[in-house]
Amino acid sequence: MSDKPGFFEGTPDPAGVLASVGLKPGMEVIDLCSGDGWFTLQIAKIARHVAAIDIDPTLLDVARVRLMEAGVTNCSFIAGDAYDITRLWPETVDLVFMANAFHGVPDPARLATAVKAGRFAIVNWHARPRERTTILGEPRGPKTELRLTPEKTIGAVKMDGLQCLTLVEIPPYHSTAQFSSGRPLKSDGRRMSAYGTKRTCRSRSLNVRFWGECVAKLSLRRSLTHDSVA
Ligand SMILES: C[S@@+](CC[C@H](N)C(=O)[O-])C[C@H]1O[C@@H](n2cnc3c(N)ncnc32)[C@H](O)[C@@H]1O
Repeated sequence: MSDKPGFFEGTPDPAGVLASVGLKPGMEVIDLCSGDGWFTLQIAKIARHVAAIDIDPTLLDVARVRLMEAGVTNCSFIAGDAYDITRLWPETVDLVFMANAFHGVPDPARLATAVKAGRFAIVNWHARPRERTTILGEPRGPKTELRLTPEKTIGAVKMDGLQCLTLVEIPPYHSTAQFSSGRPLKSDGRRMSAYGTKRTCRSRSLNVRFWGECVAKLSLRRSLTHDSVA
């Protein structure tokens, strides 16, 4: 891979982010909207297996090369629409991980309903003006108007009854929200992480429906392929 910062590489320390959402050895994981594999590689280094799903086969090819160059083989690459997650990867998984993409989901409730994993972790850019999230002097991340506050993210996912376990700040520009269909990890919901204070989440907004930059092309691409570097 080129060491020039890529389009999606605005999330520093991806391994640390993954630790904050409870990724552990032996887990089966889906990296939903995996893009060029920036997180996929780090997931694969820890998990038993990761299924990388993205609508864009070209980006999956980039991810495939990234993992091959790293000598990592416990990954499958699947082109398709995130709404079809269960059909695309019918196996039971421990965690569905989704970074830097939830802001573009046109129907978050539909996606939350489709996610059948025990845990669903969403990494978002901070909801602040794009010109204030710069990397190497350049504004990065989604358009300002697409960015979601934690409350809006939580509200959208909770529409399907998933419970928010934790919210974690990831400096400088991200946060993670982790959801479960089961019980919270700890009843008091208070834990510290390397990134800051975790706290239990309260939903204040239930009315979220945003269109992302990526979404316009989705209806044009319905290809579905299964393959693996293994
Ligand atoms: C900003 S990128 C994030 C990539 C990666 N998660 C990361 O953080 O590096 C958003 C990704 O979502 C994918 N995407 C958008 N809509 C999708 C959909 N409906 N189903 C699957 N992937 C989708 C895009 O192709 C793109 O790779």
